[in-house]
Amino acid sequence: MPIAEMKSDFWDERYRQDRFLFSTQPNAFLLDQVKEPPETGQNRALAVGDGEGRNGVWLAERGWQVTSLDYAAEGIAKTERLAALRGVSLTTVCADASTWAFPEEQFDLIVLFYFHLPREAAIRAHAGCVRALKPGGRLLLEGFRKQQMPLSSGGPKGEDWMYAADEIQSDFGVLEATVDRAVGRVLREGRLHGSAAVYQFAGRKAR
Ligand SMILES: C[S@@+](CC[C@H](N)C(=O)[O-])C[C@H]1O[C@@H](n2cnc3c(N)ncnc32)[C@H](O)[C@@H]1O
Repeated sequence: MPIAEMKSDFWDERYRQDRFLFSTQPNAFLLDQVKEPPETGQNRALAVGDGEGRNGVWLAERGWQVTSLDYAAEGIAKTERLAALRGVSLTTVCADASTWAFPEEQFDLIVLFYFHLPREAAIRAHAGCVRALKPGGRLLLEGFRKQQMPLSSGGPKGEDWMYAADEIQSDFGVLEATVDRAVGRVLREGRLHGSAAVYQFAGRKAR
């Protein structure tokens, strides 16, 4: 693959430092969308490309049974460290989401934050997410859209890796959308900093 973000060692290298690259605070859209605790202590959440675990650990603190998936072993190690610091446990999976066998109808909530893949791989991973949602389950996504290319607030430097409304529609149109919008956001998430062109999506699988 032409750009370095494709490889887990790109992220392992960055996560090896002590400080948390994207902070230890959850993403603001996640905070906005997940206000209530889960209905039962058995409700399961999957955080895809969870990095150093800021979002997965926050969900675990709120009572979700969390699976935090990332292909960077150094990120997984920091997720486990953050969970221990916060006194919660979660399941970590070190795997490539573009080839992972997403289990069928297992999760009540799936979150993807700034999780970018080249288009063909994204199609596979997104289909896996839809399959893995239970009927009635929700999916949340926030990431860069293609208009981010000239901006310096972060993101992969390949247009093919970023979101567009028609791609979101094609991958997640089967979900009933409650949020589906292109927004401008000022990011204050560790290394992601400054004005950004972002896509936000929230959708629910039919019961
Ligand atoms: C920009 S970081 C975002 C991390 C986290 N979601 C957050 O918001 O703090 C992107 C993450 O996706 C992970 N990632 C990229 N491609 C992946 C793949 N194919 N399978 C699993 N994880 C992947 C990287 O290792 C990295 O941790």
